[in-house]
Amino acid sequence: RTIAIIAGGDSSEIVISLKTAEVVFSHLDKSLYDCYMLKVIGKEWTAEIEGKTYRVDKNDFSILTPDVRIQFDCAFIAIHGTPGEDGKLQGYFDLLKIPYTTPSLLNSAVTFSKWYCTTLLKQLGIRCANSMLLRQGMNYDESAIGKKLGFPCFVKPNNAGSSFGISKVKEQAALAPAIQKAFGEDHEVLIESAMVGREVTCGVLNYKGKVIALPITEIVSQNEFFDFEAKYKGASQEITPAQIDAAIAAEIQQTVIEIYHQFNMTGIIRVDFILEEAGPSVIEINTVPGLTEGSLIPQQAIAAGISLTELFGNSIEQAIL
Ligand code: DAL
Ligand code: MG
Repeated sequence: RTIAIIAGGDSSEIVISLKTAEVVFSHLDKSLYDCYMLKVIGKEWTAEIEGKTYRVDKNDFSILTPDVRIQFDCAFIAIHGTPGEDGKLQGYFDLLKIPYTTPSLLNSAVTFSKWYCTTLLKQLGIRCANSMLLRQGMNYDESAIGKKLGFPCFVKPNNAGSSFGISKVKEQAALAPAIQKAFGEDHEVLIESAMVGREVTCGVLNYKGKVIALPITEIVSQNEFFDFEAKYKGASQEITPAQIDAAIAAEIQQTVIEIYHQFNMTGIIRVDFILEEAGPSVIEINTVPGLTEGSLIPQQAIAAGISLTELFGNSIEQAIL
């Protein structure tokens, strides 16, 4: 099998994507898979082969080298953010009939918008924060937002990841600059009432034909919230399996499996939660979760006794079924 591991993307998360792709590349079993690293950055789609850079032929997603035209049996999408996590590459690969490792075009597009995702989850009876969506060019009254959602609240780019552009806002005066900052990352901004409780996260995937929830991780951030620094520069403690009540752990694992089935998901997804007093509440669903050495899904897989070689191989095997 010939596998394209695709890194890059057009958002601030490119730095994480490159690390995710390297980890995937280094762990895939080379006796089973011929692996190539590709970069998709804007219109520049390239592959690095034996020190030489080749352009990807977008007509059929192949690479023409002096000896041979390389075609791929599966795309391992390791791009966080657009165009790898929002359905765009999924649509492209659907047209070319090339299997890929992530959820479908529809599931990627819907869940990548935190607003669409939480609106749908609420519809399914799953708890999420109270929120409001702002679009660029829309008139809005900041004092009304503060009144409706209260303080603290979170201001986030609606379509982004890795906490880029997110602020925790504690007072009215800080709201306008936080909204401006979030608009720097995206054309839509989501404002949510802050939920109170411990933060946990749980991966779920189709493993060898069975949907399984991974062990839960608790995140204890040294910062105000699980921001970029806490995520990637060690300013947080991540405890897997989380030391939480067994009944709550079971509820979370049931919830992620239910989400997976309800949406008809594929691939590995990670659902983030706050354990509020009233029960677990979903922050968001990540359909291309980070797979860097320090990332949550690798920690959870290893705690479940699944090696990264098995985990990534499984993603390919499930995709090409
Ligand atoms: N968006 C980052 C990569 C994550 O969810 O892990
Ligand atoms: Mg995310």
